[in-house]
Amino acid sequence: MRYLVISDLHGNWEALSAVLRDAIDQYDQVLCCGDIVGYGADPNPVTEWVRKNAAAVIRGNHDRACATLTGIEWFNPLAQAATRWTHRALSDENRAWLSELPHGPAQVEDFQMVHGSPVDEDEYLVSLHEAREAFGFTEQHLTFFGHTHIQGGFEQRQNRTMQWNPADLRFPRMVDDVASYLVNPGSVGQPRDKDRRAGYALFDRASRTLELRRISYDIMTAQHKIVDAGLPEPLAVRLGFGC
Ligand SMILES: [Fe+2]
Repeated sequence: MRYLVISDLHGNWEALSAVLRDAIDQYDQVLCCGDIVGYGADPNPVTEWVRKNAAAVIRGNHDRACATLTGIEWFNPLAQAATRWTHRALSDENRAWLSELPHGPAQVEDFQMVHGSPVDEDEYLVSLHEAREAFGFTEQHLTFFGHTHIQGGFEQRQNRTMQWNPADLRFPRMVDDVASYLVNPGSVGQPRDKDRRAGYALFDRASRTLELRRISYDIMTAQHKIVDAGLPEPLAVRLGFGC
């Protein structure tokens, strides 16, 4: 089975469309690590596409917040404003579907996916220290995660933990059984690793090869939609910087 792994779409239809065009005919199933909505101006089209096309989906913290408005006191003011806007903009059907999404970890074949970390969907896995701890809670040797909006990941081999810098790696890359991996496919709709292109991953389970990809998309249209919708302007500006 060949998987398209996506995360942190955040209601960005232009970015999702570009990913789908770039990956066309190169995957059999879609896996989504959450944060389908929040920030972007197209929560309904993006949710409807995921509902229809993803074989497995777990919720992200923004899906939970936008569907139910619970926990938004922990969000910064921009995220709070976007969450309230998204809650109102979502159709009743999409809001109900998002509110019923399961939290991770979700098992797929012999690997798993989570939103934040294996123990907490709200936890950010950024540092080696955080990754070392997280490896202690992974149930499979390969875990896909999102939430940080930073493409890359961590590899643990013979008790040594290494951080992946995608720019230094050659893809496709073999994922072997001897090591353990925490892999972030990157954010489709709001990258924060200073690369404004949409991020995603392709994983071929049979050949155990993994590819992390970036693709340019129509950022200007996504930005105009955010401003026209009355969402906070900094949410449009940041798309142009990938931060
Ligand atoms: Fe996110």
